[in-house]
Amino acid sequence: MKTLIFLVLAVLGANAASVKTSAARSSFNAGFIAVGDTLLQRSIVYRGGRANEVQTETVSFNGNSTTRITAVQAHEQGEFSQRPTAWMISGGIGLNNVTVKFKSAVGRGYYYHLMVWGRP
Ligand SMILES: *[C@@H]1O[C@H](CO)[C@@H](O)[C@H](O)[C@H]1NC(C)=O
Ligand SMILES: *[C@@H]1O[C@H](CO)[C@@H](O)[C@H](O)[C@H]1NC(C)=O
Repeated sequence: MKTLIFLVLAVLGANAASVKTSAARSSFNAGFIAVGDTLLQRSIVYRGGRANEVQTETVSFNGNSTTRITAVQAHEQGEFSQRPTAWMISGGIGLNNVTVKFKSAVGRGYYYHLMVWGRP
């Protein structure tokens, strides 16, 4: 029961975040979390700002032959957006791996929570 409530909250959170995405946030939600899915990986992706620099990095999740990713969420943290961008560059929904790229605005940093959901 606890798990179910958590999943419902996670889905509601995902919907709320996706509404905000186009307006102010640099977050994304891909796919859908179904009941029975688990959090396969959660990563904190953080860089402080550096004068005049654009910073980038990639974060990957690699499952095994039975793994199926159902949802990928990159949620920018913090009260004010630093206007970074995040997007999937390979793998993704329905596959067993995903790589997400993060890119800062010039002189800014980023702070994300990256969640990969699915069947292990
Ligand atoms: C990621 O998944 C794709 C499609 O299943 C596969 O071709 C590729 O080898 C996988 N990459 C890794 C690093 O596992
Ligand atoms: C890999 O597969 C096994 C079942 O063969 C599963 O129990 C395990 O959780 C999987 N590992 C990952 C990282 O998904």
